[in-house]
Amino acid sequence: MKKKRIVIVNGPNLNLLGKREPEIYGSMTFEQYLEDLRRWFPQLDIAFFQSNAEGALVDKIQEAGFEAAGIILNAGAYTHTSLALHDAIKAVPAPVIEVHISNVHAREEFRRHSFLSAACRGIVVGFGFDSYRLALHYFAPLTTE
Ligand code: DQA
Repeated sequence: MKKKRIVIVNGPNLNLLGKREPEIYGSMTFEQYLEDLRRWFPQLDIAFFQSNAEGALVDKIQEAGFEAAGIILNAGAYTHTSLALHDAIKAVPAPVIEVHISNVHAREEFRRHSFLSAACRGIVVGFGFDSYRLALHYFAPLTTE
């Protein structure tokens, strides 16, 4: 059987995970965590894309949004600024889950508003890297249908 393809899309500064503000984001690189995710979800085909550029993220959502079963999106700071990403999420049929490593509601006021949440299927916030694992469970439910 063909595996469900899920694309994880990380936005700006998330290429620095492991080095960037480790007291907030931890000391593991995302590449290391991705290996764990692939081991935990062998039934999924998990692709990964990161860019610091807003337009590249829009392009990726447009592409993955028509070919993948779902997208997990951590848009970093563009979460709080980007109408273009909101529109891209709305434009594609694949469900998009918004994730954040940190609890954005427990941080600065400017992180409390997301331009993306209203366009997304759901949101997972504040569980460290495990926000991605919890989001993946939506696409690989533990119960049988
Ligand atoms: C983040 C939260 C954003 O506010 C911030 O700009 C990031 C990371 C998170 O995963 O906690 O870059 O999306």
